[in-house]
Amino acid sequence: MAKFLVENKGPLRGEVTISGAKNAVLPIMAATILASEECVIQDVPDLRDVDVMCQILESLGVKVNADFSNNRLSLNAAEILYNETPHELAKRMRASILTMGPLLARTGSAVVALPGGCAIGARPIDLHLKGFEALGAEIIFSDNQVEARADRLKGGRIYLDYPSVGATENIITAAVLAEGTTIIENVAEEPEIVDLANYLNKMGAKIKGAGTDTIKIEGVERLHGTTHTVIPDRIETGTFMVAAAITRGDVLIKNVVPDHVRPVIAKLKECGCTVEDTIDGLRVKADTGRLTATDIKTLPYPGFPTDMQSQFMALLTTVEGKSTVIETVFENRYMHITELNRMGADIVTDGRSAVVHGGAPLHGASVMSTDLRAGAALVLAGLAASGVTEISEIYHIERGYTEFVEKLRGIGADIRRED
Ligand code: EPU
Repeated sequence: MAKFLVENKGPLRGEVTISGAKNAVLPIMAATILASEECVIQDVPDLRDVDVMCQILESLGVKVNADFSNNRLSLNAAEILYNETPHELAKRMRASILTMGPLLARTGSAVVALPGGCAIGARPIDLHLKGFEALGAEIIFSDNQVEARADRLKGGRIYLDYPSVGATENIITAAVLAEGTTIIENVAEEPEIVDLANYLNKMGAKIKGAGTDTIKIEGVERLHGTTHTVIPDRIETGTFMVAAAITRGDVLIKNVVPDHVRPVIAKLKECGCTVEDTIDGLRVKADTGRLTATDIKTLPYPGFPTDMQSQFMALLTTVEGKSTVIETVFENRYMHITELNRMGADIVTDGRSAVVHGGAPLHGASVMSTDLRAGAALVLAGLAASGVTEISEIYHIERGYTEFVEKLRGIGADIRRED
């Protein structure tokens, strides 16, 4: 089994360039099912999850031409031959559920394996299905799978009980080809939703309001091909910002949209870091003074992202004083705490709160990556710990970070991958 070996070589310094966003490209790739012409997607990160989505699309009949040396994907869904996402691929990636809206709209039926719970929580899909029903689809459950079926979807009014990112994406992609107008209220406002809506509008869809809490969609008869460049990954950006902070370094992070990482900037500043918005990117400096403890609470965008909670917690373990972290998005996203405590951290959980008594020196240990962001947090902790940190189950990390080792080494980190 492959593992990462990480050692503390002092402050990270230099420049790093951020790749296209995983959580933007996956729904965009799925949305390609809606058009019967070629779509070209640029700045595609070379990631395991992207590869799984390519395999899913191919299994449905989409012609996939991947050129990762240029971060470019050409997808042609001229013929959709199947309406069922293969179970073994669906099990490998929860985002496989995002094929459901486009398949339903394009073929009148979509069958997917019911995603089970995952390491970070139960993650049901009730809101996705509620949306499809409001557009006139019939929902049929049978052994471990669910089918949504409708000859032609009809526009409707949908209120989401929670601003779920995936449900918002799935309902948008179902509604773009529906007859009439759809209004979705209390939707997710994440930048990835805006990127998806921009992509669909370039394909001929009529979507307004993405990035606010209400989205209005006028259904159209068909969508055409387009070319689209994916937004930079705000979670990769945040992870490198914390890498600079946890090593008390000075790093310039290029290809970023500062507005997308506002909560991370605010919290790093609260801790005492300097964050400069320069013409070349975001420069994070933590080498000028002592950092101080702070509290974070995860929330849907524009709140502090749950996908940055574990990395920020790793930083807080190195800052003297008491910090409180509250995770409100997922009910079980604290698996990294046991591992951080094995490295000498002092973190106590109580339900959805975690209290970090920071400042105790971290030391290397053999730790396990339990999910993507938890794994990233352990790498960051390893960069600030004495001795060698050995991280196993790194396939989780490789699902979501492109060239993580190379990028970290490029700014002076001592990290290597061993098979
Ligand atoms: N939820 C429901 N019912 C639903 C859908 C969601 O109760 O029908 C609940 C979930 O159980 C969870 C909360 O709503 O407690 C938020 O889930 P959401 O649907 O917003 O998340 P998602 O679409 O499954 C995406 C990202 C996640 C990210 C979350 C929250 C992708 C592919 N995944 O997941 O990314 O944490 O939004 O921002 O976009 C990651 O990249 O590491 C990752 C887990």
